[in-house]
Amino acid sequence: MRRQNTILENLRIDAVAAEGKCVSKTDGKVIFTSKTAPGDVIDARIVRKKKNYLEAETIRYIKKSAQRIEPFCSHFELCGGCKWQHLPYDDQLKFKEQQVIDQLQRIGKLEISNVQPILGSTETTKYRNKLEYTFTNYKWLTKQQIDSGEEINRNGLGFHLPGRFDRVLDIDQCHLQKEPTNDLRVFIKFFAINNGLSFYNVKKHEGLLRNLIVRTTEGDDLMVIVQFGENDMDGIVKIMKEIKETFPEITSLNYIINQKGNDSFYDLEVINFSGKSYIKESISGITFKIGPKSFFQTNTKQATHLYNKAIEMAELDGSQIVYDLYCGTGTISNLIAAKSKKVIGIELIPEAIDNANENSTYNNISNTYFEAADIKDVLNNEFFDAHGTPDVIITDPPRSGMHTDVVKAINESGASKIVYISCNPATQARDLELLTNYKVSVVQPIDMFPHTHHVENIVSLTLKS
Ligand SMILES: C[S@@+](CC[C@H](N)C(=O)[O-])C[C@H]1O[C@@H](n2cnc3c(N)ncnc32)[C@H](O)[C@@H]1O
Repeated sequence: MRRQNTILENLRIDAVAAEGKCVSKTDGKVIFTSKTAPGDVIDARIVRKKKNYLEAETIRYIKKSAQRIEPFCSHFELCGGCKWQHLPYDDQLKFKEQQVIDQLQRIGKLEISNVQPILGSTETTKYRNKLEYTFTNYKWLTKQQIDSGEEINRNGLGFHLPGRFDRVLDIDQCHLQKEPTNDLRVFIKFFAINNGLSFYNVKKHEGLLRNLIVRTTEGDDLMVIVQFGENDMDGIVKIMKEIKETFPEITSLNYIINQKGNDSFYDLEVINFSGKSYIKESISGITFKIGPKSFFQTNTKQATHLYNKAIEMAELDGSQIVYDLYCGTGTISNLIAAKSKKVIGIELIPEAIDNANENSTYNNISNTYFEAADIKDVLNNEFFDAHGTPDVIITDPPRSGMHTDVVKAINESGASKIVYISCNPATQARDLELLTNYKVSVVQPIDMFPHTHHVENIVSLTLKS
């Protein structure tokens, strides 16, 4: 990034734009800023010049927007987690709804009429069932800490600063997950410091303690996974034993030895230290088994609303063959099984497919079939001949959206209805534009992540006659 020294004075922030940024239009220029609110007036420094727009950072507030409210978290200024805390929740919802409409129209070039009001989250704090914390031996210092002149222990456990893989902010209290998430994190950090266990250095790739994942449930199940960067069994057993004894409520305690260059553990063995190797969560009377590598919607209460809405939009009557693409642990498949003739779920991660099958067995469901595969490699006429031509397709891809081969296969499938669930309306809009054999019938934005700019969106499509 080339640093500019041009200052824009008295810049008025006009509106919220995509990716949580705000936009200003002045003297024919489009300027994006972060951490601002519509109605703010600021002096800003230009940090990036692009062909069609500028990016700027606030150096001084001339006037703060009347729309602003006091953020509830002490880490708000630095942490990337809940960047919209300074905006009332109702306003956040309006911005998200508008973002969905804008992206479907601008990127998808779609004519949409039936946009339902966004479904807000019933809980706006402690709504996450999974948090991932990173250990560091070089925690980020706040201005206050630097100014204090005190000697500070740089071992920390918290979140990455936005966009910085090598900078970790130590967290005192996080409002995103119910307890014991804070108790656990604080306990583990101080136990490690007091016992001389080393914290990870991401640049040198050394240090024992690397990453901590806490997964909570609506019931009593609680999973903890600790990632270690070194194979030091004395240190590993020492801290794992201590966690087990101090937190007997953990029902699944696991660890991973990860000596790779990145934190991803999908290709590594997860070792169960104590308790079960999975946790269970129930939605609408169906119980789901979730392993350490399994995807599960992170806001469980709101996921229930998401699934109910998607199922309603699929208009199932019990006679249809339904495909559940990107099925994860088969959550949707198992929820819709009773309303379908047969459900076929496809998902990349074999362990998630194992969980999906187990979830069917556990819930006495016998009309599901799951396959572990990259969908682009298997979704074709041969597959349809073998497993049944889809009447309804429900698809829930990752943020990157669907591969063009998958979009093409869906477009040519002949299914009478498609329900497309997306956590990224931009890629959803891109994919929808290619589904030329279908027309959009209902659009339902839904908020799974309060205080972030992220928005989920469900679109139902019907086959053009
Ligand atoms: C947003 S999640 C949806 C999970 C599921 N529908 C649910 O509600 O629990 C996306 C899923 O797509 C899977 N996935 C990503 N790329 C894939 C691919 N190319 N082929 C098949 N599955 C893929 C991921 O592993 C993940 O489980």
